Amino acid sequence: MQGVKKIYACDLNLGEEVEELKSLYTREALQRKLLYNELQELRGNIRVFLRCRYDSRSQCCLKFLGDNEVLAPNSKKPFTFDKVFSPKSSQEEVYEDARAVIMSCVDGYNVCILAYGQTGSGKTFTMQGPANDPGVNVRSLKELLNVCEQRENVTYNLKASMIEIYNETVHDLLSDTVNPLEVRAQGTKIVMPGLIEMQVKSLQDIDQIMKLGSKNRSVAATKMNSQSSRSHLIFMVTVEGQDKTTGACSTGTLTLCDLAGSERVSKTEATGQRLVEAAAINKSLSSLGQVFTALKTGQLHVPYRNSKLTHILQPSLGGDAKACLFVMVSPDIENLSETVSTMQFGSNAQQVQLGQAKKNISNNPRGS
Ligand SMILES: Nc1ncnc2c1ncn2[C@@H]1O[C@H](COP(=O)(O)OP(=O)(O)O)[C@@H](O)[C@H]1O
Ligand SMILES: [Mg+2]
Repeated sequence: MQGVKKIYACDLNLGEEVEELKSLYTREALQRKLLYNELQELRGNIRVFLRCRYDSRSQCCLKFLGDNEVLAPNSKKPFTFDKVFSPKSSQEEVYEDARAVIMSCVDGYNVCILAYGQTGSGKTFTMQGPANDPGVNVRSLKELLNVCEQRENVTYNLKASMIEIYNETVHDLLSDTVNPLEVRAQGTKIVMPGLIEMQVKSLQDIDQIMKLGSKNRSVAATKMNSQSSRSHLIFMVTVEGQDKTTGACSTGTLTLCDLAGSERVSKTEATGQRLVEAAAINKSLSSLGQVFTALKTGQLHVPYRNSKLTHILQPSLGGDAKACLFVMVSPDIENLSETVSTMQFGSNAQQVQLGQAKKNISNNPRGS
């Protein structure tokens, strides 16, 4: 009898211990998330990286001054970014700097990576890259799969979708049908009813999804008599995690955007369909700039709804989200005016370091 009592007491103690460990664990997980968030907020929620394309045939007209500054010819003041990558930089180096931000989607954050720049500046190379030297997309998905596998205490479910925005119309690139998708706000989320989401369990799944998406994209481009550089490509990954110990669920998203070429099209060049394309691109990219400006100046109204692009990106820009903007430039002196305008766009976003300040403003409207 005594023995049974002892065992029973022991069992009770164990139960208590498990409960205590559970709560300690939950607290620790929360703390980790908060600390990471704080660190990112100190650094700014939008990090801006400049990368100059490599070209074996021409000299680079830009001067790279250390890790953060780049000087354009005939100008005295350099542009400053979180990091600048010269033409010699490798895909690994570029990925390494965006890595921490990307991986925070595993902890339930909305993360967005954007590549902005004129056509031919290396956006697709940086985001997708060739098979033997993959870019940010493939590297981050590979690592996401690894991290999800290694964390034994959490069950993860990864889903991917791929869309294209052409002339302010959203197309599902994983679907055979050409019906445009509608974009709706649902609380803090954005939903596109009917959007296909595919399970990602292995590297082969990623490969298949990417192949299907790019096949559908080129079919659509041929039908519309357009080029891929005239549309925005968005690859979205949802990471759902459930903690095996506590049962707590988290949902993070990783949104990877290869934006349409930012070059200004001359008036004589742009007629008919090209004029419509240029106007749609201009509208969405300038809306993106306006969103950065509104976030930067702590405006209470951020004009996300001015374009399909910014509407879809709303949950991943601002608030608790983390974003990396790659501003991509050409090394050629002939492209200098586009290069400077791209660097100005990046510089505008670079100063969005006010995630914390914006929060203070909205929490404390009288500013007291
Ligand atoms: N860092 C780089 N190193 C080597 N080749 C590059 C690099 N960046 C771009 N390229 C090459 O330059 C060309 C234009 O790049 P691309 O990524 O297609 O530009 P964009 O998508 O901005 O129009 C492609 O042939 C690409 O392979
Ligand atoms: Mg491209």
